[in-house]
Amino acid sequence: MCGIIGCAGVRDTVPGLIEGLRRLEYRGYDSAGIAVLNGDGLERRRVKGKVRDLAEEIRRHPITGACGIGHTRWATHGRPSEDNAHPHTDCSGTIALLHNGIVENYWSLKEKLLAEGHVFKTETDTEVIVHLVEKHFHGSLEEALRAAVKELEGAFAVACISSRDPGKIVAARNGPPVVVGFGSGESFLSSDITPLLAHTRRVAYLGDGEIAVLEPSGVRFATFAGAPVEKTAETIDWEPAMIEKRGFEHFMAKEIFEQADVVRDTLKSRVSLDSGQVFLDDLGIAPDVFREVSRVVLIACGTSYHAGLVGKYLLETLGHVPVDVEYASELRSRDFAMDRETLVLGISQSGETADTLAALRLAREKARAVLAVTNNTRSSMAREADGVLDLHAGPEIGVAATKTFVGQMAALALFALAFAQARGALGEEASRTLVQELQRVPLKMDRVLGGAAAIERAARRFLDCEHYLFLGRWINFPIALEGALKLKEISYTHAEGYAGGEMKHGPIALIDEGMTTLAIVPHDRVYEKMLSNIAEVKARNGRILAVAFEGDERARAAAEEVFPIPETHQLFTPFLTVLPLQLFAYYAASAKGFDVDQPRNLAKSVTVE
Ligand code: G6P
Repeated sequence: MCGIIGCAGVRDTVPGLIEGLRRLEYRGYDSAGIAVLNGDGLERRRVKGKVRDLAEEIRRHPITGACGIGHTRWATHGRPSEDNAHPHTDCSGTIALLHNGIVENYWSLKEKLLAEGHVFKTETDTEVIVHLVEKHFHGSLEEALRAAVKELEGAFAVACISSRDPGKIVAARNGPPVVVGFGSGESFLSSDITPLLAHTRRVAYLGDGEIAVLEPSGVRFATFAGAPVEKTAETIDWEPAMIEKRGFEHFMAKEIFEQADVVRDTLKSRVSLDSGQVFLDDLGIAPDVFREVSRVVLIACGTSYHAGLVGKYLLETLGHVPVDVEYASELRSRDFAMDRETLVLGISQSGETADTLAALRLAREKARAVLAVTNNTRSSMAREADGVLDLHAGPEIGVAATKTFVGQMAALALFALAFAQARGALGEEASRTLVQELQRVPLKMDRVLGGAAAIERAARRFLDCEHYLFLGRWINFPIALEGALKLKEISYTHAEGYAGGEMKHGPIALIDEGMTTLAIVPHDRVYEKMLSNIAEVKARNGRILAVAFEGDERARAAAEEVFPIPETHQLFTPFLTVLPLQLFAYYAASAKGFDVDQPRNLAKSVTVE
């Protein structure tokens, strides 16, 4: 949902801003722009399109400056166009400002500002902010932004510069993330840490209701009310190489093939193979909480919601506890009952998704404890939750989530085991069997990934197919949903995910030779029922692809093509069944020539509601 970046330094900052925007492009990529301060005052370059188009525009019409801000946009108010691209300027052209978020009261503010004589040049909600800063400017950009944000309702991360108060960037936050980086002789800001790694490892996070003033010599923090805020720099341990493609054509491919390592890293130091015990010492809440609650609620959006569904099946089976999985956006609108016997887990790769964050804030008022299951331990969710379950997946750049989904399932499997053990629901022998098998899962994942070439061939063979039905039952029902989502997201192909048992209640009407059913049929408690689903599809001339255990002759006889997976415990099959589906979607999208890492209309971190 828009990426923002800024640098206040002494050298030309334009190449750094462009490079940083490339790293943030996963957040939005319909238009981009930068503004810098130099001897000529304030200069801007903006384009409709991607950061590479902006770089080309700057190559044709160069600008330089030691202090500048940049933006890559995911449109909310106003279609993607050069005029609507950030940064926006005030009437005098001396202030430039960019924004991530939504100004909910922009219409009433705009009417007031128009009546006061301000001239608007864009269709964006953001433009009201820069006119408000102009209105309140009396020599200090910091004072002007402080006065402006007091009038705003909604979510915002904003940054601005002015040729009338040069050499500094002033930023404010209420909602979407802002990270500040401390360099030597230069200061940075960004929507996330990945662009900062090329310049510094020392960072601090702007809190809600805080303002930062960045100058080459350092950064000052204060509240919107003006009270100074002291912050200590944290050191980031991510290696810059972790965010490179490492020879893969797309980040998504690299991330798919990293997934076995993600499970290894998530399990590392958290399990004992001898006793079967799971240790979540880094969780931050006492195991007593596990014994004292009578219900678990999992809250998430998108792919994280599908991981939550897998978590539900794991927790129900191992912990014998009632579990609800809720879309964050829906839960917020409902009269959702929760009490002090409810344990809430918010599942979010980014830890910043606006709906999930808001739902967790509601939950904190009522529930016994709120945990964040996230890949970003410095995110808003992680900082506000009572405890954090870290995925250890490393940065995920592809917009379609893959390795963080697998990381979430691994973290939830550990959580379910620890929860069940704390409640005495799982004996030592059963624990040992499960933990030892979980430890073997990454090796088996590598084996499935080793069969990628056959999946690529199948994806190419089925390229003309326009409709897919993904079917799974029980713990692979969420994988059917996730497989369909991946195909939709990156290959723009119509795909529906269904629980096998629901097929005859509607989707069966769609089946003919134009519809391919991708059936997930590991040898588990619902195997026979899934084979019946396949038979029903076949009887209606539907085409069938299947994910099944290696050597499963019945699945092979029924399907046009089988993607084999090694045998594993039935609770852990999702770690293996999801892999062919991710690869199928990836190869289909890449064969069609689509922008796999940045699919149209999507953004990785959705910080608007
Ligand atoms: C966006 C992304 C999805 C992601 C969802 C939830 O829609 O494109 O890949 O699953 O947000 O994001 P979160 O960071 O909360 O897991």
